[in-house]
Amino acid sequence: MKAASRSFGLTSRGEAVRAYTLENSHGMQATMIDYGAALQSLLVRNRQGGLTDVVQGFDDVAGYEGQDAYIGATIGRMANRVGGAAFSLGGHRYALYANNGANHLHGGQRGFDKYVWQAEQGEDFVRFSRLSPDGEEGYPGNLQVSVTYRLTEDNTLCLCYEALCDRDTIVSLTNHSYFNLNGGGSVLEQQLQINAQRYSELGAGVLPTGRALPVEGSPFDFRSFKPIGQDIDAKHPQLELGGGYDHNFILSGPLAAIARSGESGIALRCETDLPGLQFYTANFLGNFTGKGGKAMGPRQAFCLESQLFPNAMNCYGFPSPVLRAGERMHHETRYNFSLFEVE
Ligand code: GLA
Repeated sequence: MKAASRSFGLTSRGEAVRAYTLENSHGMQATMIDYGAALQSLLVRNRQGGLTDVVQGFDDVAGYEGQDAYIGATIGRMANRVGGAAFSLGGHRYALYANNGANHLHGGQRGFDKYVWQAEQGEDFVRFSRLSPDGEEGYPGNLQVSVTYRLTEDNTLCLCYEALCDRDTIVSLTNHSYFNLNGGGSVLEQQLQINAQRYSELGAGVLPTGRALPVEGSPFDFRSFKPIGQDIDAKHPQLELGGGYDHNFILSGPLAAIARSGESGIALRCETDLPGLQFYTANFLGNFTGKGGKAMGPRQAFCLESQLFPNAMNCYGFPSPVLRAGERMHHETRYNFSLFEVE
């Protein structure tokens, strides 16, 4: 394992940003930046013997600052949407910043993705930490939060999320990487399997209503591999709401999803101890120029965001995102890469 770091430039506020690289003995290489505790690049061995960068990103901080798509970033305090940008806890009503119509999305006006985190690098890991102060974006309590990226010799990038707060609060962290197993172009022919029998129904504003719908007999059935694009344009009210897939899948077990591409031969296996997975086909992604001048656009990537269920505080029966004062939150999501044999 090799570990190194380098300067990644300055933010518009003048803060120094660094990039941290981990590389295992097979040449798999992950680069993370402390701005947004984001995964900036992930080089994975392809069937042709070369390396494919399977995540979208930018070559400089300005690229990250100038977009609103959370590319590669760590998301918090609450991943995804909080309906009406408000919630009740301990008899108190908390108002959050509404940055997505009437709703709160991915941490608000300035979420965790828009801060420079403190970094610590070890032989096979990089840990990013920050203190989210009491009242930030409307959330109660001083929250000490960290995400640790660890690269293993079996080609797994593990993300470990930890949090501790001095007051009762709510927290749900995720990573918002945009994957493309060919390194670019459309993802519609890449295949996906999701380990879910049900998904969260969306209402207006891409907000979960609290109901779960069966995947069976619908475009949401990914229980066996199928191309991402196979049913994406089917006439289905749930697909129309999100302009494609942008839904929380209710996971049946720790193996959340497997994606694979016949072209590169790369298979991505996502495992998590979290109960939900937002499968998002980059429907709202504008056209950008990314790393190395590469064009990025809608449906040229997919996100597999492990998470607690969106809008959990406002939906009866959803797993609770409440973190009690002094209690430690710990979750782990792993992305493993291998080459798959074509049948
Ligand atoms: C999540 C949401 C989407 C969108 C993206 C970011 O995946 O569910 O609706 O907001 O983040 O653009």
